[in-house]
Amino acid sequence: MKTIGDPGLLRELEPCVARYVDRHLRTSRMWFPHQYVPWSTGSDFDGPLGGEPWDPGQAALPAAVRDAMVVNLLTEDNLPSYHLEIVRHVGRDGPWGTWVHRWTAEEDRHSHALRAYLTATRSVDPIALEEERMRHVSTGFRFDHDDSLLSALSYVAVQELATRVAHRNTGRACREPAGAGLLARIAADENLHMVFYRDVCSQALELAPEAFIRAFTDVLTSFRMPGHTLRGYGARAGRIAAFGIFDPRIHHDQVVVPLVRSLGLLERGALHPEGARAQDDLGRHLEDSADRADRFDRLRPRLARRHPGGTERPAAAPEQAFPTIPRVRRPAPGDTAHRAARPGPAAADDGCPSLPPPVHPLDRDNGPRPHPPESENDARRT
Ligand SMILES: [Fe+2]
Ligand SMILES: [Fe+2]
Repeated sequence: MKTIGDPGLLRELEPCVARYVDRHLRTSRMWFPHQYVPWSTGSDFDGPLGGEPWDPGQAALPAAVRDAMVVNLLTEDNLPSYHLEIVRHVGRDGPWGTWVHRWTAEEDRHSHALRAYLTATRSVDPIALEEERMRHVSTGFRFDHDDSLLSALSYVAVQELATRVAHRNTGRACREPAGAGLLARIAADENLHMVFYRDVCSQALELAPEAFIRAFTDVLTSFRMPGHTLRGYGARAGRIAAFGIFDPRIHHDQVVVPLVRSLGLLERGALHPEGARAQDDLGRHLEDSADRADRFDRLRPRLARRHPGGTERPAAAPEQAFPTIPRVRRPAPGDTAHRAARPGPAAADDGCPSLPPPVHPLDRDNGPRPHPPESENDARRT
C-alpha cells in the first residue's frame, strides 16, 4: 500500500494545483457585490444618523429563508478561520499559496454582499446579526477530523458542494429577484471552488488511493457544516429543512452521491486490504445516508404540521431540476466486483488525470463551466 506524508503529497500535487489554478482563473468571472444589492429599498438606521430603527414587521422574507441567509452569512463571516486552517495544511507559497489567496478573495465577497443585501432590505435585525457575528467569529473554526492533508481536502470538497447547494436553494426559495440573483451568483462561485477541490482530491486518490478513500470516508461519515457552532443551529437547521432548502434528502442526493460517484470511490479496483475496508465502510455509510434520507421523507408530513406552509420545496428551473438519484447499494459480502481492476483515469491534455466520465446528469451540473450561469440581475440589465 502506498503511503505518503503530507509534505510529499503537497509536492506531488503541486503541478496539478498550478494547472487547476490557471483553469480557475480562466473560468471564473469577475463580479461586483454592490451591483447585486437593491440599495433603493434601504434607508438610514437609528444611531449616529438618526434614522429609523429596525422593526420585525420590516422583514419580508419567509422566516426559513431568513434563517438560511443568516446561517449562510455567518458561515461566510468565519473566513479568517477557514483561511488559517487551509494555510496550516497547504502553506502560503507556490501554486498552493496562489490558490489560497485567490480563494480567500473570492469568498470574502460573499459575506459583504449578503450582509449588504440583508441590511438594505431590512430583512433581519442588524444589531442581533452583528452581535452574533462577533460571537461566531470569536469562536473560530477548526476541522473536526484528523489533522491530515487528505482529510482537509476531503472536507473542503464536500463543504463547497454543500454550500453551493444551500446558497442555490436559498435563492430559489426567497422568490425575490435581487436576493435570488445574488445567491445564484454566490452559488456559481462555490461551484468552481468545489470543482477545484474535487479535482485535487481526484489527483490525491491517484497518488494514495487507500489513504484517500479512508480519509474521505471518515470525513463524510462525520461531516458537519462549518456553521454548526452557531447558537440555535439545530432549530434553524430544522426550519431550513422544513422549507426544503437543505435537508438529509438533499444532502444525500445532491452532495454525497454525486461526489462519491464523480471520484469513482466505490468502483476503484486493485486496492490493498486497508483500502478495501475503507471502501466497505464508505458503502455502509452510503446506505446509512440513504436510510436517513428515506426517514426524513417519511417525516415530511409531520414537519408540515409543525411548520405550516413550510415544507414547500424551492422551485427548480426545469433545466436544473435534479432527478431522483438511484440508491447506491453497498456490495454484498464476498462481492468484489466493485473492486475489479479497471483502467485509471486517462491523462487529460493538461497532464492531470481527468475525472471518470459523469455517470449521472448531476455530475454534469457540477462540472466546470466556461461561464457560470447568469443571475437574474444580469439578465435584467442586458
Ligand atoms: Fe462562500
Ligand atoms: Fe467556496
